[in-house]
Amino acid sequence: MPGRFPSEWLDELIQRADAVSIISAYTPLKKNGSKYWGLCPFHGEKTASFTVDPAKKLYYCFGCKAGGNLISFIREMEHVSFNDACKYLADLEHLPLPQMIEDPAYQKRKQLRDRLYECNREAARFYHENLFKPEGAESLQYLKRRGVDDAVIRRFGLGASSSRWDDLLNHLTGLGFTPEEMHQAGLIVIKEAEPATATSPAKPRRMFDMFRGRAMFPIIDQYGHVLGFGGRILGKGEPKYLNTSDTPIFNKRLGVYAANLLKKERNLDRVILVEGYMDVIALSQFGVHGVVATLGTALTPEQAQLLHRFAPKVYLSYDGDKAGQHAILRGLDILQQAGVPARVLDFPDGLDPDEFMRRDGPEAFEKLPVLTPETYRMRRLRDNYDLTTQEGKTEYAKACAPILRSLDPLDLENKLTELSVQTGFSREVLLSQLEMTAPTPAAPGRMGFPTKPRTSLSRPRTGASTDVASPVRTQEMILSILSTAQVPQTDAVTADDFTDPFLQELFLGISQGRSPSSLISALEDPEDAQRAARILMSPPARDTNELLQMLQECQKQLVRTRLENNLKEVTQALKSCAPEEKPGYMERFQELMREINRLQT
Ligand code: UTP
Ligand code: MN
Repeated sequence: MPGRFPSEWLDELIQRADAVSIISAYTPLKKNGSKYWGLCPFHGEKTASFTVDPAKKLYYCFGCKAGGNLISFIREMEHVSFNDACKYLADLEHLPLPQMIEDPAYQKRKQLRDRLYECNREAARFYHENLFKPEGAESLQYLKRRGVDDAVIRRFGLGASSSRWDDLLNHLTGLGFTPEEMHQAGLIVIKEAEPATATSPAKPRRMFDMFRGRAMFPIIDQYGHVLGFGGRILGKGEPKYLNTSDTPIFNKRLGVYAANLLKKERNLDRVILVEGYMDVIALSQFGVHGVVATLGTALTPEQAQLLHRFAPKVYLSYDGDKAGQHAILRGLDILQQAGVPARVLDFPDGLDPDEFMRRDGPEAFEKLPVLTPETYRMRRLRDNYDLTTQEGKTEYAKACAPILRSLDPLDLENKLTELSVQTGFSREVLLSQLEMTAPTPAAPGRMGFPTKPRTSLSRPRTGASTDVASPVRTQEMILSILSTAQVPQTDAVTADDFTDPFLQELFLGISQGRSPSSLISALEDPEDAQRAARILMSPPARDTNELLQMLQECQKQLVRTRLENNLKEVTQALKSCAPEEKPGYMERFQELMREINRLQT
């Protein structure tokens, strides 16, 4: 169905829907104050940090930061598209579907995307069928030699690209795809024509397949779209894996390999994150569920959030070599910054999960110890010191302090005992060392990596602050109050009061009378939608007078911040200005001071 739903219809749909009854079909909710609370359906948890705002029909999880309106809720829970989520809701609410409206720019983008998905799907089918033809024999042999069985070949849709130059090009041309489409999907290479030069003759435009003579791994997302491919060389050569580079439908920083299978696994208690295609395949073949891989890049915050939607914990199971150990420390940083509980599976002898599984078998895999981030970090740290010398022991104990400081009392007790055994220092000495070295604002134990100071481990990169008096927090509070249906429009707040363009945009939407839910629907980036849901949740106050009072208080704060900033500038100018300018600045200074004092009374 082309086009978009009319926004009036979407508003009506949301208006009809009862957020609490829809969401409680997925997780039981309990009323507390003006909001409802429950266990978050997007990540496993034992204490409720998921809240539903019945008035604004928004949800937000303080644990995993999932948030949005009812449409995004259905999208995430049912893994369906925006339009399908709307249809699903409309069906629940018995609201007839409307005439779609045309939006040429959007339709063009969507058409291109759909076409590229289709092109990739046909390519995946072609590669898969190749595997059982003479042109794929070598790839099939390669996979068999590595122990991949037929069921797994089918489960992952593995395939083969032939060694000829234009097999895929010809096949897709026969199906009606243009070279430009294949090129945009990253499936073929186009070399433009070159005019003749003094030394070489003119060259015509040439086109050929991107992947040739490789075993093919389709990358499929949680909605079943084929986003791109990894192709492994069969013998020696470079690169070992050739991957689709970023295209209009593929961004390797956002997705993971085998997300399509993850979606089918309900109630996972952890996701295992590995480095390679073959690691996913080997673990899956030996019956380990919920395994995915990043695509040749370091773990990104976006991927961390994605994985957290599928399970409460992420196990890092990278290669046991030096590079893998390095990547685990970085991965732990990313997961901890995103507020995602993490564990580490540490493979012996520098093996990767594929090699370990095939060498030692699934029982040995099950028996691998599951390490907490602290245990793993301390273990890596220990490698850097010579614990046979007193100096090494001392330095090691000192280096562990930032890691220990992040622990709960019980875990701390355990670790202190361990450290005491390793270094010979008594528990008391180690404890007083902890107290003497003041906590730094940086993350615990980012060993060897530069750190940016931050005040909370679990805070996302929204720039929001929990400090109520901070200007951003005040601006957010104003938006939250203005977007309740209770306070009248006011001229006292203007777009200029907002320092962040995102907040400005929300303000403009609210001033146009748009509902929080419809503002969120208009945001394409899921992170923006989450942020908006968090900001627009109703404030704790309930009656209109209280809200108006809060609004006034916030406005005062804004004015004060503005004055204080001015004051800083004037003070700065006073220090560096020419003598004849001084009286002018002094006067301004006193004026500002008077205004600030007046605010305080
Ligand atoms: P590894 O080099 O550890 O390969 O790269 P592997 O997974 O063990 O591969 P096999 O077992 O030799 O077949 C780990 C991952 O890094 C990416 C791939 O995603 C690979 O699975 N990679 C590696 C590339 O993208 N390109 C490369 O050239 C190499
Ligand atoms: Mn390997």
